[in-house]
Amino acid sequence: MINLVSLDLKTVTAEALVVPVCEDKEIHDDETLAMLIDKAKAFKEFKGEKGDQVAFYNQPGINVERLIFEGLGKLEKVDMEALRAMAGKAVKESIKKDLSEILIAVPAPEKINLTTQEILEALLEGACLGNHLFDKYKKEKKHKPLKKINLLVKTDVAKAYGRLSSRIKTICQGTVFARDWINTPPNDKIPERFSASIARLARKEKLKVTIWKEKELKQKKFGAMLAVAAGSRNKPRMVILEHRPKGAEKTIVLVGKGVTFDSGGINLKPSASMEDMKLDMSGAAAVAAALITLAKLKFKFNVVGIIPIVENMPSGNASRPGDIIQSYAGKTVEIGNTDAEGRLILIDAMAYGAKTYKPDVMIDLATLTGACVVALGEKFAGIFSYDAQLAEAIVSSGVKTYERCWRMPLPEDYKELLKSNFADLNNVSSTRYGGAITAALFLSEFVGESRWAHIDIAGPAYSKKESAYCGAGGTGFGVRLLCDLLARIFA
Ligand code: BES
Ligand code: ZN
Ligand code: ZN
Repeated sequence: MINLVSLDLKTVTAEALVVPVCEDKEIHDDETLAMLIDKAKAFKEFKGEKGDQVAFYNQPGINVERLIFEGLGKLEKVDMEALRAMAGKAVKESIKKDLSEILIAVPAPEKINLTTQEILEALLEGACLGNHLFDKYKKEKKHKPLKKINLLVKTDVAKAYGRLSSRIKTICQGTVFARDWINTPPNDKIPERFSASIARLARKEKLKVTIWKEKELKQKKFGAMLAVAAGSRNKPRMVILEHRPKGAEKTIVLVGKGVTFDSGGINLKPSASMEDMKLDMSGAAAVAAALITLAKLKFKFNVVGIIPIVENMPSGNASRPGDIIQSYAGKTVEIGNTDAEGRLILIDAMAYGAKTYKPDVMIDLATLTGACVVALGEKFAGIFSYDAQLAEAIVSSGVKTYERCWRMPLPEDYKELLKSNFADLNNVSSTRYGGAITAALFLSEFVGESRWAHIDIAGPAYSKKESAYCGAGGTGFGVRLLCDLLARIFA
């Protein structure tokens, strides 16, 4: 539980009070704190530099067991991400100390280059997300999340920003849903189980949920998706989530790649890090979690999530390189490589979404290509769109949420590379260069008339190392981005 509270520091009691400190300027307007910060800075080991941390115990003048000072660095460099990271780190440290409740002193807005709303959003996000543990599969749970995190603010702020705090909590809860799904091992999230898990949470929020099994997918001719699913004994599912508030006119379709495990298929991947390929449903996780979150937030526009879920496996029934399949849209595709499976399931979902909903905007999220990670590294998603305004909106949302995005080109002449001698298209390019671009160009053939953007999250969806407000594994990348973006698009 995380809340905004206004308490008097002179009388407050707590297991721990976290105090963010800048190295060059005072950022609190409380005498007690000022005195304590001076004391901390009297020690050489704490200057308030970014990442500095020091704890004092049972200090006179204040009734808290531990005072934890967290360095923020130079004031001019303090942005939302610095606050998120500070709050996340403080929460994680407190979890390791087996604390159950902490209090965080919120800097005074007039002393810092951010609005009250930005400061609170960042601290709430860092604290909420930093308080997430994934230990479901450990018999012995070493640590527990904090039970209570209180942000210490002035009385008027606590009153005015109560709704903001519940909004941020809802969005972080959505991010945590996505992280948990991604971290779930692939044997526990085969399409049947992953789709059931999405449906259970979605129904709670009164979303309309439709799930198609293999029989319906065959009847409806989702040929590309079925070709990917063919190699696995675990049958595919198509999940459709609909949020249709009364009076809404505009419609956004979100499509998410849901490959619960990507072995590569007959073009089997090398063994190094193959276990990480449980991450290949991160687009699906982000889309499902975003829909659940937007429903909770009573978002005013229509949003439809289309989520194709398959397992990509080699077997006697698997699709082969050289196979030609017919996609939902009617176009035929030669399977040049069974490891380029994401684009096959996406084109069926996108073509269905375009035809059925005729959306104003369509956005797909996918861990689509290793090439995108080569191009942008592990922390940036690639944005592909013919619509400059839409691409810019996504990049801006990425700046705000620190789910960073970078626009990539969609050159018409590269489409040449996707030609097949025998079918309408090949699912892979004839060269190994520019793989993220050719993948996006392949998708572009199935968009229809709507504004469209493709977000390749192969890099940032997953991290082997923990960071300030995320544990090792799924990051939930895309949930906060989409929530910010959708509010922006029709604003
Ligand atoms: N799921 C992978 C992409 C991926 C790679 C995601 C690394 C996350 C981290 C995708 O299905 C894939 O295998 N793509 C191939 C495409 C190639 C065969 C044209 C790739 O990137 O090598
Ligand atoms: Zn693949
Ligand atoms: Zn894949």
